[in-house]
Amino acid sequence: MNDLEKALKDGLDRLAEENLSRTLEPGAGLDFTSNDYLGLSTAPGFRERISTLIENQALSAPASRLLRGTHPAHLDLEKKLAEFKGTEAALIFPTGYQANLGLLSALLGPEDRVLSDELNHASIIDGLRLSGAQKCIVPHLDLNRIEEELSRPHPGGRTFIVTESYFSMDGDIAPLGDYAELAEKYSAALVVDDAHATGLFGDVRGSGLAEEFGVESSCSAIVSTFGKALGSFGAFVGGSRVLIDWLINRSRPFIFSTATPPLLLGMMEAGVDLCGDPGARTRLHSLAERLRNALSAGGIDCSASRGPIVPVIIGSNEAALDAAGKLGEEGFDVRAIRPPTVAPGSARLRISVHADHCENDIDRLAASVLRILTQEKTG
Ligand SMILES: Cc1ncc(COP(=O)(O)O)c(C=O)c1O
Repeated sequence: MNDLEKALKDGLDRLAEENLSRTLEPGAGLDFTSNDYLGLSTAPGFRERISTLIENQALSAPASRLLRGTHPAHLDLEKKLAEFKGTEAALIFPTGYQANLGLLSALLGPEDRVLSDELNHASIIDGLRLSGAQKCIVPHLDLNRIEEELSRPHPGGRTFIVTESYFSMDGDIAPLGDYAELAEKYSAALVVDDAHATGLFGDVRGSGLAEEFGVESSCSAIVSTFGKALGSFGAFVGGSRVLIDWLINRSRPFIFSTATPPLLLGMMEAGVDLCGDPGARTRLHSLAERLRNALSAGGIDCSASRGPIVPVIIGSNEAALDAAGKLGEEGFDVRAIRPPTVAPGSARLRISVHADHCENDIDRLAASVLRILTQEKTG
């Protein structure tokens, strides 16, 4: 081992001592961990729809979008995505991480001020870092604090509010209607990451919480991903035509990256086509409530969360790993979520309910979680 590798090994050993080491484990057991909330990725209808969509379609586009990487299929899908999301225009990004990086770094500059929820996703944090904007990290969903900050004038720059809509590790929801009102009152720009909500919320199109709150036109930009309820991979930003034109010209992660292959566009489009089924959404929400009720009857309160993300906060990294391991032995794939993904001392089981689970799966999982966590307390 050379000096560099020894330093890396020491770092890895320190992570292991704190139960913070990660390895790559393929899924085993019943999936209560992935973000495939609607179960689309394994649905036969999804495969069929993709096959139809990619028939006679170019498979790859090995160039950036600004060069030869733009196919008619990109433009067609972007039009459809804008309609789905209720925005004037849309732009596809290779991933949600890149979408946040590319949007925030192109939109905000060092003269701007941003109010960012303390639980925002790493890709938002990194995008804001890259932008150089002046950050004010606000306590989670604290509207009073946001208003207090907004009421301080910020001459010389713009003010942005940036938030996730459906928080990925807590399953709680930002009151987007109130955010939109505050943004309007103080002439701030509202940017919403609707990644985990897309396909799950919104009565008409199922396009997410921006739709459910009816704030699509109050948002300067909305980020959505395909890699969660829509069952595939990739992301898009929705917004005004001028915003999208700005990103095409100024967003470096968009400009300097190969175009999303048309092969994948078929998967993305299939997700949008199929997530509109209100039956699957209703079933998903009712299964998640069933799990919450069963856990609550056994003394575990998850009532702050809504929808398919059900967090069971444990505290220590070791105890969370231990509980996840025991659930694995019982045939459930539930992972322990530890810092830095969540705050130190708040390690948890993040249970992700899917529409293709059955009632019996939910009841068995609830019984196992309750038994394992009770044993842990008494043991
Ligand atoms: C809120 C949020 N935004 C963005 C992303 C990044 O999306 P992607 O996985 O497509 O890079 C994630 C991923 O988990 C997320 O949870």
